[in-house]
Amino acid sequence: MSKDLYERAVAIAKQAYAPYSNYLVGAAVRTRDGKVFEGVNVENAAYPLGVCAEKTALATAVSEGYKPGDIEAIGITASPCGGCRQWLYEFRVGEVTFMGSTGELVTYSAAELLPDTWDLPA
Ligand code: THU
Repeated sequence: MSKDLYERAVAIAKQAYAPYSNYLVGAAVRTRDGKVFEGVNVENAAYPLGVCAEKTALATAVSEGYKPGDIEAIGITASPCGGCRQWLYEFRVGEVTFMGSTGELVTYSAAELLPDTWDLPA
């Protein structure tokens, strides 16, 4: 349970650029060597071009040299969408914490959030 990452996500969400949905999302990832990277959703007038907070947080970590397997945990202010679940699975994120539908924080592995996942054929 990464309550600290969830709190970082809540704090960064105010930086989101979401003028179309007005739904501000924040995410914070922690690497296995203890660094934290944050992200927010960034929308676009051409709606499908918007990006989710989880992706911007992971992309920031990647731009600093981190790769799949290097991310220990993520906190998100929203339940991750299907596409973000595929990203979380790709990065083998160990713990995914977000506010569940019950109003309590919930934590799952990326694999639990996307069972029997598609991978490139070997
Ligand atoms: N959004 C995220 O940033 N992450 C999710 O996992 C769910 C959805 C964003 C996308 C869009 O900018 C807004 O929330 C409304 O869907």
